[in-house]
Amino acid sequence: MRQLEAKEIAVVGALTVAAGATGFYLGRYVFSTGKSAERCRVNHNHCLDSAKIVDIVDVEDIGQKKSFCRCWKSKTFPACDGSHAEHNKLTGDNVGPLVVNNTK
Ligand code: FES
Repeated sequence: MRQLEAKEIAVVGALTVAAGATGFYLGRYVFSTGKSAERCRVNHNHCLDSAKIVDIVDVEDIGQKKSFCRCWKSKTFPACDGSHAEHNKLTGDNVGPLVVNNTK
């Protein structure tokens, strides 16, 4: 039986690592559970019994300027209360509010 050369061993090793990594990530995707989907939620606080949260705000009611939360951490949702700053500090994220200016 012929012995493998170093170059052949390196190729076989690289293919083995690539196949293992592919199998690992494919397995995580295929066998992911509802629990991992739960971790993907962005909303953990507001109206959790609702299938979908929709807020309607009349422009006339916002005054001159209003900030709306886009991080889902605000205690006054849908208004921004600044909670995004702590979230960004903890996670390295960069989310911030939608600021609506009423120029009329
Ligand atoms: S608290 Fe969510 S964007 Fe400010």
